[in-house]
Amino acid sequence: MNFESGFLSRLKRAKKFVFFTGAGISAESGIPTFRGKEGIWNKFKPEELANFDAFIKNPDMVWEWYQYRRKIVGNAAPNKAHETIVEFEKLYDVTVVTQNVDNLHRRAGSTHVYELHGNIEKNYCVKCRTHFDIPFSEEPKGVPVCDCGGLIRPDVVWFGELLPHDQYQGAEEASEDCDVFFIVGTSALVYPAAYLPDIARRAGSMLVEVNIGATEISDRCDYSFYDKAGTVLPELFEALAAHSLN
Ligand code: OAD
Repeated sequence: MNFESGFLSRLKRAKKFVFFTGAGISAESGIPTFRGKEGIWNKFKPEELANFDAFIKNPDMVWEWYQYRRKIVGNAAPNKAHETIVEFEKLYDVTVVTQNVDNLHRRAGSTHVYELHGNIEKNYCVKCRTHFDIPFSEEPKGVPVCDCGGLIRPDVVWFGELLPHDQYQGAEEASEDCDVFFIVGTSALVYPAAYLPDIARRAGSMLVEVNIGATEISDRCDYSFYDKAGTVLPELFEALAAHSLN
């Protein structure tokens, strides 16, 4: 892939980077995305699985669905895109803002990560709010129950629920104060997460999209690179290393 010299110079001079990521960054790790032909929401109905009422109505079914997804995530490994973001962190001030619940950025080694939609490896009691980190391989089949009698649910954001305040606030602050805002593997359709690119743009950041195709946000980006994240990001990092400012 060819990168303009002016673009590489702007990146090289930049100090603060945000990588705003979605399901597409984990696609090459074998984790299905949500939308598109093979997307999760084409096969399962969010209203039957990813909301609190569905959980209260049929907790075992919802729990088992998350157990199934945890197994996919547990067997997946970070890919070159996650790993390249860690390489960027060695050279720049990098904040990762992810909509993904798969924990792959942390497993790759990113140290500054905001998780807007929770983390599938974590759980909490709906009654007393005690947190439990139950490894997927040891989970009971049906929904587990806390000592207080409350049901234990996955620590993910369901439809109709608020985002974790501290995570969104941290993400918003990082977006308002970065030089480059990468948008990687997201359809940028789900709010409030999808406000962040515009917050960054209004604050003067350069928006760079990496996706296999055009999205809702493409028109507002300074640069869009249409290929797999696991291809574009390593190639960009290499081009940046070879680029000298004149
Ligand atoms: P989507 O499934 O909506 O979008 C995935 C995006 O990744 C699409 O734009 C694809 O074109 C792109 N893509 C696929 N493979 C790629 C690859 N190898 N490299 C680069 N891009 C690739 O997923 P999200 O945008 O993450 O919310 O969805 C946002 C939210 O909607 C999710 O966090 C989830 C869902 O409902 C909750 O569960 C709260």
